[in-house]
Amino acid sequence: MVIPVLVLNGPNLNLLGTREPAIYGSLTLAEIERLARQRAQALDLAPDFRQSNHEGELVSWIQEAGRPARAIVINAGAYTHTSLAIADALKAVALPYWEVHLSNIYRREPFRHHSYLSAGAEGVICGLGGLGYCAALEAVAAKLRG
Ligand code: DQA
Repeated sequence: MVIPVLVLNGPNLNLLGTREPAIYGSLTLAEIERLARQRAQALDLAPDFRQSNHEGELVSWIQEAGRPARAIVINAGAYTHTSLAIADALKAVALPYWEVHLSNIYRREPFRHHSYLSAGAEGVICGLGGLGYCAALEAVAAKLRG
């Protein structure tokens, strides 16, 4: 059975490819999506891949995710470090979720070391670049299929 998964990307991730490539790599978000879709297909997952620069839009998408997503993979970008609203929405829908960051946030500025999302996450993946999304999808499949 194919499992629907919401894959959310927050602010400025639409600029990947040209945005600080020494930190975030040279892949665009579309290229990362392609990689993730290939992995998802092999795992029998159906990812709904989205990006928004707006906190409220991300909150609304999380609220709607329960119909029909069974899991969420989220790179909330800078909202990771600021957004109680996104953390609350994730708690409210009570779907298992995995937090992804392209960069190793623990090797960067101290203000990136705290995440409002990590405490409720099934897992946190950071520093693997675009591969982190594939790793998160592997974890989704392993958890939901037992
Ligand atoms: C990021 C890390 C965040 O600190 C930053 O604000 C981002 C991207 C990452 O993928 O490494 O926008 O989530």
